[in-house]
Amino acid sequence: MKITGISGSPNIGGNNERIIDLALGMAEEKGFETGKIFISQLEVSPCTDCGACRNGRECSIDDDMAGIYETLETSDAFIVSSPVFFGCVSAQLKALFDRSVLLRRNGFLLKGKVGGAVAIGGSRNGGQEFTIHAIHSWMHIHGMVVVGDMAHFGGIAVKPVDSDEEGLKTVRDTVEMVCGTLSRFK
Ligand SMILES: Cc1cc2nc3c(=O)[nH]c(=O)nc-3n(C[C@H](O)[C@H](O)[C@H](O)COP(=O)(O)O)c2cc1C
Repeated sequence: MKITGISGSPNIGGNNERIIDLALGMAEEKGFETGKIFISQLEVSPCTDCGACRNGRECSIDDDMAGIYETLETSDAFIVSSPVFFGCVSAQLKALFDRSVLLRRNGFLLKGKVGGAVAIGGSRNGGQEFTIHAIHSWMHIHGMVVVGDMAHFGGIAVKPVDSDEEGLKTVRDTVEMVCGTLSRFK
C-alpha cells in the first residue's frame, strides 16, 4: 500500500519538505511503499473552471498536473503538509487541490483513501488549525477517510521544525494514525 507525501511549500529543502521526508521515513519503516509530490519542483497553474474535465479526463492546462493525477490515483493514503500563508494553505497547494477536481468529476477516484494533514507556520499560533481545516476540506470533498493526531487535528508545527519537539510529536502521531488506519484496510 502506498502513502504519498505532499509538500505545499515553494521552498526546496524547507520545513515542509523535511517534515514529509520524516513522515515517509516512518511509513517506509512500517513497510509501506511511498511517493512524493513536492510542489517546489513542479509547475501547477490554478484551475480556470473551463469545464473540460466535466466531459472526460481532459484538462485544458498543460503542466505537471498530468503526472500528479497519476500519483494521486495510485496512492492509498496522503500526508499533506502546507506552510501557513496568511492563515491558510499556500496558493501553490490550493492550485493542486482545485485542479484535482478532474479526479472527482471522473468517478470520485480519491474516494476512500486515507488522509492526514500538517501545517507549519512561522508563529506558534499563526493559523495552523485553519490551514489544516482547509486541507481536511479537500480530503472530505473527495470522500477520503480523514484522520488527526489522536489528540486533535493533525501535525501543528512552527519553524524551524527540526527543533520543535512539541510540533514533531503531533506530526509523528498523525503519521501513526495514517499508517494505522491504512493497515486496517489490508
Ligand atoms: C506570504 C507569507 C505569509 C505567511 N503567513 C503566515 C501566517 O499567517 N502565519 C504563520 O505562522 N506564518 C506565516 N508565514 C510563515 C510561513 O508559514 C513559514 O515561513 C513556512 O511555514 C516555512 O515553511 P517552508 O520552509 O517549508 O517554506 C508566512 C510566510 C509567507 C511567505
